[in-house]
Amino acid sequence: MALRFDRSAALIAENAKYVAGGVNSNFRTGMAGGPLVFQRGEGPYLIDADGNRLIDYYCGMGAMILGHSPAGVQQAVKEQVEKGLLYAGQSEIEFEAARILCETIPSAQRMRFGSSGSEVAQAAFRLARAATGKRIILKFEGHYHGWFDNILWSTAPGENAAGPADAPVLVPGSKGQDPIDAAGLDVIGWNDLARLEARLAKGDVAGVIMEPAMCNQGAIAPTPGYLEGALAACRRHGAILVFDEVITGFRLDRSGAQKRFGVTPDLSIFAKAIANGFPVAAIMGRTDLLDMFVTGGVLHGGTFNAQCVTMAAMVATQNALTPARYESASRRGVRLREGIAKILGDAGIKAQVTGFELMFHVGFGLDAPARNYRDLLKSDKALYVRFAHALLKRGVRALERGAWFVSFAHDDEVIDATLEAVRGAAKEIA
Ligand SMILES: Cc1ncc(COP(=O)(O)O)c(C=O)c1O
Repeated sequence: MALRFDRSAALIAENAKYVAGGVNSNFRTGMAGGPLVFQRGEGPYLIDADGNRLIDYYCGMGAMILGHSPAGVQQAVKEQVEKGLLYAGQSEIEFEAARILCETIPSAQRMRFGSSGSEVAQAAFRLARAATGKRIILKFEGHYHGWFDNILWSTAPGENAAGPADAPVLVPGSKGQDPIDAAGLDVIGWNDLARLEARLAKGDVAGVIMEPAMCNQGAIAPTPGYLEGALAACRRHGAILVFDEVITGFRLDRSGAQKRFGVTPDLSIFAKAIANGFPVAAIMGRTDLLDMFVTGGVLHGGTFNAQCVTMAAMVATQNALTPARYESASRRGVRLREGIAKILGDAGIKAQVTGFELMFHVGFGLDAPARNYRDLLKSDKALYVRFAHALLKRGVRALERGAWFVSFAHDDEVIDATLEAVRGAAKEIA
């Protein structure tokens, strides 16, 4: 029997008189079925206001790598709450958290904490400009680095607005963005070294920011040699290379996509899975760059940076990221990914299922795996939304943009139940 979400709908409608739209992020609006209201999270499940127990593949938009409510994190948080919340000074728990990052992330010679991915991206831009004396931040079409005015451009532009593929134009992601905020920004297509090289040759680029694997849209690996080539080109032209590992961090590898692909950028930013649901972000990189916060006249602030409870959550999360758990979760993630591809194929639904073990993407209507944003534009988004809605009615909550986040808590039984729902949903929409 199809699940119903009436109480969620009523709560959203009623509380939209307080909270604009009933949601606290535009990304929570959803496209089909309406936004849901939740009461509890347990491992791979979310329990909603109607009492539905949903298998969750949003995983907090990628943050909940251990699953919902992991006991170790909860215990560490309770103990820290007893001790104190915010000192506006340093704590030993934040130094422990920093040491873990510096020992596990290749680019982390030094680091600083912040509270969100959007915010630490800004710190990276400031460092890149201060270090090089240049102005332009170069980004890639379809890559997302937060919602702030100077970077929310060309994250998901429509084809008619985006200009030619070999010379894309900057498209704002929101009304209310001042064009002056894009004066220090430029955009090109990703996974194309010749275009990157040509843009850098103009000599005005301070920093290049990219998701080392494109995961906010799609789940696309860099073509072999692309990241190495990008780093070499940045060196040649005096630009700082920044990897945005907000999604890829701790998901593509314990030590980030930079370890998986063997390329160490000048700076990198992490958030989401770093503390399994607590608002922690970090910027890390070369000593000389991070020390510009100390002796280079570059300001970095934030009342809640390294807030003690979030630091306790982070340390507990990081300690739970063991090789054995990655191995078993990855095996299940691959089983799910391949199972979905097979079921869709058997149902005659044209799709590309691509990506990694703990994060992958299902793109309907694509003839070949996407290499960049322009390829993804050819996918059948409307049909996928119907599929996601059909899954939701069967108790599986998967993002309508095609991304699937798998946690350590998604066990074999949960994968089997998911594949059963996928079978039903595929039949419904085929
Ligand atoms: C790749 C990437 N970078 C940056 C951000 C911004 O992070 P936050 O939402 O914590 O500000 C996100 C958020 O989805 C992201 O996916």
